[in-house]
Amino acid sequence: MSKVVWDMDPGIDDALALLLALKSPEIQILGISTVAGNAPVEMTSANARRVLEYMSVTNIPVAMGAAMPLNHPLVDALNHHGSDGLGQCGLPPPRLPLHPAKAWDFIAQLISDAPGEITLVATGPLTNIAYAFKLHPELPRLLARLVLMGGAYGLTPYGKENQTPFAEFNIWQDPEAANIVLNSGADIYAVGLDVSMNPAACLNSQHLEQLKSGHTPAACLAAQLAEYVIERQGHCELHDPLALALLLDASLFDFISVPVEVVTGNGWDRGITYVLPSDSYQLSTASSQLIHVAAAVDAPRFLELFLSRILRTLNNTSCHSEPCALCHSEREKRPKNLAQDRLREESRPFAIAQGGKETTSILEE
Ligand code: BDR
Ligand code: CA
Repeated sequence: MSKVVWDMDPGIDDALALLLALKSPEIQILGISTVAGNAPVEMTSANARRVLEYMSVTNIPVAMGAAMPLNHPLVDALNHHGSDGLGQCGLPPPRLPLHPAKAWDFIAQLISDAPGEITLVATGPLTNIAYAFKLHPELPRLLARLVLMGGAYGLTPYGKENQTPFAEFNIWQDPEAANIVLNSGADIYAVGLDVSMNPAACLNSQHLEQLKSGHTPAACLAAQLAEYVIERQGHCELHDPLALALLLDASLFDFISVPVEVVTGNGWDRGITYVLPSDSYQLSTASSQLIHVAAAVDAPRFLELFLSRILRTLNNTSCHSEPCALCHSEREKRPKNLAQDRLREESRPFAIAQGGKETTSILEE
């Protein structure tokens, strides 16, 4: 059983990863923190809770974190994820309140309460984790490990870019935070575009049909989320579910342990993750540790794991007994314009939760 604290920016693939985790008894999520990335932080905070509540999970606290990267304005990815960040799936706004703590203190508390036991998962920009590590310098050593989705390491033909011609979104969004985290001394596993952009590890329209034929809440929502992306680009990358899958079956991946340097600032090369020669970490001041970087994935086995978990029925997550607007049977019966009606209903602005103070000066406090 992995005890997990998870920092995320849902986002379609974050939500798919969360569904995967909720269908995996090996994973115990102790808490979720949210960061600005794919969407503004109020929206990612709402989305995490929208998914949890849809899955009838009410005992995982969600704490909101940074509204902006450390040194840059936020550049969201709503063009890819839809105007609500979740492919306009029609989930209602959350009812559960946010946890009152700021994400970095929330993360620190959970890690300190179980020293050596926590796997910290990061599937968004690393802003909250950087704040947590700066404000609580003991944290990296208290972690079992940090598993992150981020970077493009040039280890496969796919490990190139998805935000600029050279950089991956999460690292590009906040390269200064990535630099802090990758040099923190934590035991870090990085799953990047080298594996997540492999077309064999993406959902295609056949996989979508499988999800649509499922009768679990997770399958219904996963189908809606994946369909939004597949309709637009023909396939759906599973960046964040891949990172989560490392906790379920590490044998899916090959890793190499290398020094990594992140390009900070705002030049053309912002957010590039360079793999340095393997002995350079002893010499270089820029990179002081080895990072375990995913260099290959067994894509068919990963997809089988993903689909079988999402489609399976567990005692605590069996299909809704009440008809659910997203569930397969209901969806088929649903008149076409109901989706539009739901969208209009849901397009009220998200409630901005408590504690909306700006976060940018916290490292100077
Ligand atoms: C990463 O960026 C985000 O858009 C996705 O959620 C994923 O975490 C992929 O580059
Ligand atoms: Ca993400």
